[in-house]
Order: sequence, then C-alpha cells, then structure tokens
Amino acid sequence: MPVIEHLSALEILDSRGRPTVGVCCRLEGGASAWASVPSGASTGKAEAMELRDGDKSRYGGLGCKKAVANVNGPIRQALARHETPSQQHLDEALLALDGTSDKSRLGANTILAVSIAFARACAKAEGIPLYRHFAHLLGQSPRTLPRLTVNLFSGGKHAGGQVPIQDVLVVPLSAASIDESLSTTYAVYQAAVALTAAKYGSRALVADEGGLAPPFPSIDAMLEDAVESIHAAGFAPGKDVGLAVDVASSHFYQGGRYYLGAAPLTGGEMIEQIVRWLDRYPILSVEDGLAEDDWDHWPLLRAKVGDRALVLGDDLLCTNPQRIRQAIETRSATALLLKVNQIGTLTEAAAALSLVRSAGWSVTVSARSGETEDDWLADLATGWSGDQIKVGSITRSERLSKYNRLLAIESESQLPLAPWPRSC
Ligand code: PGA
Ligand code: ZN
Repeated sequence: MPVIEHLSALEILDSRGRPTVGVCCRLEGGASAWASVPSGASTGKAEAMELRDGDKSRYGGLGCKKAVANVNGPIRQALARHETPSQQHLDEALLALDGTSDKSRLGANTILAVSIAFARACAKAEGIPLYRHFAHLLGQSPRTLPRLTVNLFSGGKHAGGQVPIQDVLVVPLSAASIDESLSTTYAVYQAAVALTAAKYGSRALVADEGGLAPPFPSIDAMLEDAVESIHAAGFAPGKDVGLAVDVASSHFYQGGRYYLGAAPLTGGEMIEQIVRWLDRYPILSVEDGLAEDDWDHWPLLRAKVGDRALVLGDDLLCTNPQRIRQAIETRSATALLLKVNQIGTLTEAAAALSLVRSAGWSVTVSARSGETEDDWLADLATGWSGDQIKVGSITRSERLSKYNRLLAIESESQLPLAPWPRSC
C-alpha cells in the first residue's frame, strides 16, 4: 500500500510565462515523480478556483507561492507517512483538507498537482507506464489512442479577438495512426502558413496554443482558409481531413445575445448560424456553440445538429458532475470536453467521465491554453480511452510534448486509433 514519504512543490512558469505549480511526490520504497499543472485563459464560470497570490507587484498577482506553501505545509503534514491506499483516498483527503466547494482554500491548481504527482509515483512503484495506471484507476485496460483534433487557426481570447470564435481545428480522419495524423496535420499546417502569408502578408506568428492567427476579415474567411489549406495539402476536406470549431461563445454573450457580427443574435439565430457553418464546411465537432448559461437553447442546438456533429460542452460543463448531470437530463450536448483542472482532482474527473459514458456521449480530453512541458495528458487520454485529444497546434514544445508522448505510447503499445464517434 503506498505511503507518501515526502511532498514538495515549486512555483514554475507556464507557456505564457505565468506562474503555475509543480509537485514532487516520493513514496516509501523510493518511487518518486514530478507533475505540473496547466491554466486556462478562456475559462468557464463554474471552474474550480486556482489559488493565486494576488500580490500585484509580482507577476501581476498571478504568483503561486501560496499554492507552493500549501503543499510544503498543511498538505505534506496531513499526508506524509500515512498509508494512502488509492488515488480516491488521496483525492478525498485533499478535498477534506480544503473543505470548500470550489477548492479555493488550497487551490484547484495545488490539489491537482499533488493528485497527478501521486498517480505518476504509483505508476513508477508498480513499474507500469502511466497510461496503464490511469486505465487501472477505472478498472480497465487501455483500448485505443485518441484521435487528434489539432488547432490550425486561432481567434477570440487566444489571439487578441481579431475574430470572435476561438479555434478552428483539423481532424485527420483517414489517418490510421498518431504518426500518420501528425504528418497529415503538418502538411495542412504548412499549406496554411503559405496561404496566410500570400493572403494576409503575415509571417507565421502563432497564438497561445500555437495556431496561426492572421487578421481574418470574417469567420467565414477563417473557415474557407482552413478548407483551402486542406485542399492545398492534397487532402479531401471532410473525407481525409475534417474540421472542428471551438466557438467559445460564452465570451461574446451578453444579456441573452450573441455578439458575433454586426447585429446581436438571439440563441435561436446563433443556432441557425451554426447550421449554416455545418452546411458550408466539413465541421464534425462544435464546442461551446452556445454560452455556458444559455441552458434554454442547448437542447435545441443538440436537436438541430447532434446527428451531424459532436455537440461538445466545455464552459457549459466544466468537467463538473453536477453540471454534466443537468446536461444529460436536458439532452443539451453529446460530448464532454474533459479538462481535469476545471474540477481539480483525478477522482472527480473520473466521475465526470463515467457519467457521460453511461449517457453514450463522446469525450475529448483537452489541454489548456497555458501549458507546461509535462506530458501526462497524453497518458490520461489513452488510459481513459478518450475518443479525441485537443492539445493545440503542432508548434510550441508544450504542445509537442503531448504529441511526442502519444508517438511513444503508440510505438510501445501498438494500440489502434479511436474511430471518429458516431452521433448519439
Ligand atoms: P483555455 O481554453 O484553456 O484558455 O481556458 C481552451 C478552450 O476553450 O478549449
Ligand atoms: Zn473551449
């Protein structure tokens, strides 16, 4: 039975140069592991709280010294030298120590870093790869590798808002492996680099998740350019390579209206707009097509497009079992964007996963826009049989660390790639 011998934390920096938390967990017997956690910019209102120092003179208040002190103080005191029989025991002990409903005392960032470092140390102690350990936490074996959904173009909060929607992603469909998916994506990305240079005169400067972010004159131009890039790379749009969009519409929703273009749209008009995009472009997945609080319209969105594309909830669900239950009951979505740091522990994220699986939904395991070089997400997406993974573009090493880990898992496990899910 694992006994934590020592826990220690360090404030480190993420891909935006903002502080985050890394934790080292050493078990009795010598297994020791390090894990660090990401942070979002386009966050949902229902996310668990990250603990930040709030001292404006240092990193604009974003410092994580308090989070570090929580690990090196009360968490270490409560957990070190006690038996921790399972991940669930650890996570429950952390939740009890925190004692708040939004994890604001210890911080969701603090708690998750401990949760993942413990999982990795246990995998080491068992002598198995982390993806297998993650699968065992659910009482299963790894079955598939997640299909890639890769950021091509960025707008919204990840690119200074030159267009309101946040991401256009490519989905390699005819690729039969991670290896082939990456080479396909590279070809499309390079075609997009050439196309945006020719059309907008812009160098290949990249946004927060490594996507290209030229000054698109409109959302349609952004989607047309994506289709053109797929063609230019020699692939058939919708057959070899499809598209996914993260509309992230909570961020242009105000007073019951969507501020997408010149005139504000009602929920019904926003749905019509999404249907028009699906009619024109090979879009297979629509994330946050509606705002996180627009519960009235989500069932209509699912009814209108659920048979053609994934109706994927990010801010709507926040990986929160309570919100997911509501969405299942109201038939509001068909897929979960699983971001562990939205909820703060592996155990609660596993509960979210099990809920959506019992409803027959699909799952996209997702990174955040502020990432570290840690690659545990690739193991999680494999171990938990995520249908898709979303970690950003194929530039910037905090993104590539996950793709490179998937390549390594593919090479050692020979697992097949998950098929694109059928609509539910
Ligand atoms: P975030 O956004 O990580 O900046 O919150 C990513 C997303 O909206 O999917
Ligand atoms: Zn999103």
